[in-house]
Amino acid sequence: MASANPRKLLAQAKQALARGETDYAGLLLREAHDAAPKDAAVARLLADVLLALDRPMEAIEALADHLAVNPRSADAARSLSDIFAAVTPVSFATVNAAGLTAALRLDRVAADPLGRAAGPLLAERGEPSAFRRGSDEFTLLIALLEAAPVREPELESWLVARRRAALLGTAEVRQGRGRPGRARCAPDGPAGREPLLAAMARQVWLNEGVWPVDGDERRALDGLDPDDPGQVARAALYLPPERWCPDDAGAETLPKCLAGLAGDIRRERREMARADAALGRAVCAADATGGAVAAQYEANPYPRWGWVQPAPRGAGRAFLDRIAGKAGTAADAAPSGGWAKGPLRILIAGCGTGQEAVQAALAYAPNARLLALDFSRASLRYAAMKARQHGLNAIRFRQADILDLPAFDPPFDPPADLIECIGVLHHMADPFAGWRILLGRLRPGGLMYVGLYSATARRGLTVLRDRLAGAGVDPADPDAIRAARARILARPENDFERTLAASADFYTLSEVRDLLFHAHERPLSLDAVGAFLKDEGLEFLHMDIRPHIAEAFAAAQGESAVRDLQAWAEFERENPDTFDGMYLFWVGKPG
Ligand SMILES: C[S@@+](CC[C@H](N)C(=O)[O-])C[C@H]1O[C@@H](n2cnc3c(N)ncnc32)[C@H](O)[C@@H]1O
Repeated sequence: MASANPRKLLAQAKQALARGETDYAGLLLREAHDAAPKDAAVARLLADVLLALDRPMEAIEALADHLAVNPRSADAARSLSDIFAAVTPVSFATVNAAGLTAALRLDRVAADPLGRAAGPLLAERGEPSAFRRGSDEFTLLIALLEAAPVREPELESWLVARRRAALLGTAEVRQGRGRPGRARCAPDGPAGREPLLAAMARQVWLNEGVWPVDGDERRALDGLDPDDPGQVARAALYLPPERWCPDDAGAETLPKCLAGLAGDIRRERREMARADAALGRAVCAADATGGAVAAQYEANPYPRWGWVQPAPRGAGRAFLDRIAGKAGTAADAAPSGGWAKGPLRILIAGCGTGQEAVQAALAYAPNARLLALDFSRASLRYAAMKARQHGLNAIRFRQADILDLPAFDPPFDPPADLIECIGVLHHMADPFAGWRILLGRLRPGGLMYVGLYSATARRGLTVLRDRLAGAGVDPADPDAIRAARARILARPENDFERTLAASADFYTLSEVRDLLFHAHERPLSLDAVGAFLKDEGLEFLHMDIRPHIAEAFAAAQGESAVRDLQAWAEFERENPDTFDGMYLFWVGKPG
């Protein structure tokens, strides 16, 4: 029988989809994919159809298999990343490791969701020391270390042991030509670990040096001279870049295996220094709580992040149109041209390192201008650098305390059509005072997207945070954070404190500080939020929540209750794990 023509099958599948025959389209695409595994259009449409048929695991397999034979297929890698952001497979046995490696290596793809999959995949495939150099697993391990923080405790513990061996020169590490203390990115054992050590140095940069360091390592590090070219490779496995990575002048002293990493670190430094000039004049926080919070983010801008993949074109605007259309006041209060197309002025209040601002700029483009504020200048420098990397010039970043907005000098922009404030207000002494100030910057009929810690969802975390605070950990001291984290990791798997290792925020220094050692946080209840909305005359429009929770809510409270905040409060009382730590919701200001 003549083999099927994949292009013909693709065309037939599209026709089938147009007729609503999704199952049949899936069969045609599967046949096309088998005939032409390198065809990106087929692989992506097959994945979309499998997702529509609620078969995400098969979509993951199809994309990973495709990437294994077509490793430059960036669109497929982005689709894979999107799926992993939404779905955590129970098993990775059928996921092609080479395909995942290819996705992690591509530029302009969100690496973190891929990294969250690579960790458990590797953990499932066995002890990393058994990975042959050149095997799919070894290559994936290197790609993971270079692209995203490792968020897998067992894998971290293995890497920490390898690093320790490399520093202390134990039997597993062969020193450079018998000269003690002169380990370059030295091979250590049959697998030849040079790429592993170089990749681990990059991982330490990505995770901001969060891995535990024991007493022997500390003593060895104290005796290390990071200015000695022979010792830099070891230093880079532990120390922050400012301790070992010179500016261009010292570049030639670095070992070759660190050249790429050093180049990226220097590029980041230069771009952040350039960004600083546009951030406006330096400001101080308006009150003591703000001062402590700003100092935290100045030392540990939160979070470091990689790449934002744009949502499908028009989807963000269509969403605004939909929720604003539900607001009683919206018809005459929409921007000229409507929410779907009209010009938008957007304020991102407390933008941090810019991921949210970049997401918003991509979601609401074109015709959207954004002002993104934060009182941490270090965070803003990072944010502006990332916006530039994404080719965005619609965002202005400015240093400011939200509490000072009424007296903002020079005079502030006209009121915004849309304000986003995610993960910020609960770090203020009085979250509602901050919220009220922001409402003063929102035009009548405008929308606001708010993210606030849920006291219920964070009840366990609050107990653990209080315990850690009682243990006297100095949150400004990275060594103290590393030690506290090591104690947590050393506890038995089923221990209450050890559950913290399940949090994705446990695996970089800025994230774990934000999670466990925050300078100030005040989680809230939906009852308190509801009372505030009532006082301010705000309309609750939409709860942003994962689809399966929305379905459970609709089943329990009725479809029509989705815009009733009290119903959500009742649902949370009955299901205390409804929210992922934070309420994320939209409100409208009367027109
Ligand atoms: C947890 S981060 C959230 C960042 C960002 N919204 C996001 O979702 O990724 C909180 C940010 O709020 C900023 N922040 C807190 N209080 C602020 C205030 N009063 N004025 C300006 N920025 C503030 C902090 O500096 C920090 O960057």
